[in-house]
Amino acid sequence: MRNSAIFLFLFLVLGSCKNSSKPLDSMTTYDTPLYQEPHRPQYHFTPKEKWMNDPNGLVYYKGLYHLFYQYYPEDIVWGPMHWGHATSTDLLHWEHKPIALFPDQHGYIFSGSAVVDFENTSGLGTIENPAMVAIFTYHLMEGEKAGKTDYQTQGIAYSLDGGDSWEMYQENPVIGNPGIKDFRDPKVFWNEKTNAWTMLLVAGDHLQIWGSENLIDWNKQSEFGKNQGAHGGVWECPDLFSFTDETSGAEKWVLFISINPGAPNGGSGTQYFVGDFDGKTFTSDQEEDQWVDWGTDNYAGVTYNHTPDGARLFIGWMSNWLYAQNTPTERWRSAMTLPRTLSLKDIEGVPTLFSTPAPVWDNIGKDQKGKDVSVPAGQSIVTYSEDLNQSKIDFVWDGSAMSFSFVNQKQELLSVHLDPENQQMSIDRSASGLVDFQEDFKNIQIGPIGDLPNTEISVSIFLDQSSIEVFLNGGQKVMTAQFFNTNPYNQLKIENKGTEKAVFKGLKITPIHSIWGQD
Ligand code: FRU
Repeated sequence: MRNSAIFLFLFLVLGSCKNSSKPLDSMTTYDTPLYQEPHRPQYHFTPKEKWMNDPNGLVYYKGLYHLFYQYYPEDIVWGPMHWGHATSTDLLHWEHKPIALFPDQHGYIFSGSAVVDFENTSGLGTIENPAMVAIFTYHLMEGEKAGKTDYQTQGIAYSLDGGDSWEMYQENPVIGNPGIKDFRDPKVFWNEKTNAWTMLLVAGDHLQIWGSENLIDWNKQSEFGKNQGAHGGVWECPDLFSFTDETSGAEKWVLFISINPGAPNGGSGTQYFVGDFDGKTFTSDQEEDQWVDWGTDNYAGVTYNHTPDGARLFIGWMSNWLYAQNTPTERWRSAMTLPRTLSLKDIEGVPTLFSTPAPVWDNIGKDQKGKDVSVPAGQSIVTYSEDLNQSKIDFVWDGSAMSFSFVNQKQELLSVHLDPENQQMSIDRSASGLVDFQEDFKNIQIGPIGDLPNTEISVSIFLDQSSIEVFLNGGQKVMTAQFFNTNPYNQLKIENKGTEKAVFKGLKITPIHSIWGQD
């Protein structure tokens, strides 16, 4: 086997310090400074400390992207849920804000959404100073423990200072429980078709659509999905939005439903349906199950309300309920995916979801010329880069059978396989580092790629300490996964598994600096 080494020295500075230095939990002391702990992502959002799950209340208002999230400030496992809060001007650097919502007499604060009530339909603000309204599920633990079924209700809270401080609505809950055990995760958006608010709610095995003039009084309008889509687990975290075809002007609606368990690679995953929405009812004649991301670690993702140019921006929770509470981190647990822009494209007559990293990444490494790398049949080349563990890797795949592996001095190995014969890509993290904290973590994860072009396929990979996000053909196929290597990966091994010479055009490794300050 012939090994040729390419040294790529590409430097890029994205850094700016936004987080302040005081840990939330002053009782525990740590050897490593905040944000420099082992496995800590450096350009993905993570809470300073403790447990995080779903993104909540994604809303843009007055120049800020708000990110609320399921948060338990006292431990690194799931517990009484709060809404943590952070903001960003650019979807890259995040500023931590005080906790927005705390559990109260109605229960824990489960997932939900946020809107800005510009027309003051609720009367909670004014036209001059509209209220930001959070709509969420209350989960009453006492009810669950007592074996009842009515412990999830929907509540609202509002902020008159752009999300800094919050008041619970006095008459909560605004939707009581009709006797459904899993009745949660309200996504509310302004509906141009009805000139009113629409709420999506999941009810165990199906979606319910509700409408309201004022965010307070709600009526149920329709249901979807009892006999459609994947049903391997409970339906959670819905979202619904439209795309307009630039040439035909036709409108198509996309429904997101997260399910847990029942994802194609085990545990949690997010399916999507393409269909029509008349303002009150969603219908879809899609027969095959479709998935937003084929990797194991992108769950409960939803999109922003009120984005300035109508862009459909998505953030997911980069974990999986299979092992989310066991991952080997100590001070915090779990990260968000990179924010992604969604679009719908026609692929051989099938409307297909594309997700690409948010535009902030468009220019990263643009000024760097990549190298064309040719690899003889059955051979591999190795590229060394000290920055690999925190980098973006780009090249154009010629469609031949190949794998690329990230390797470190301890021979820990994270591999991505592109297999045109079986029309699949896969991620193998079975020897990637720490893997024994849960039995399923070692499983190889597989995604179909049969609908990709045969050649000239762009590949972009983001590696950030403990996560890999692979985007094929501009986001037509995406896989996201966590890993926990114990030494940084510093070799990229590209293996040609085919019977002919392969050429990977424009290979480049762009280091990405930390977005967090040195606390
Ligand atoms: C999804 C989910 C939601 C729920 C929240 C609780 O991960 O189970 O359905 O609202 O997490 O933290």
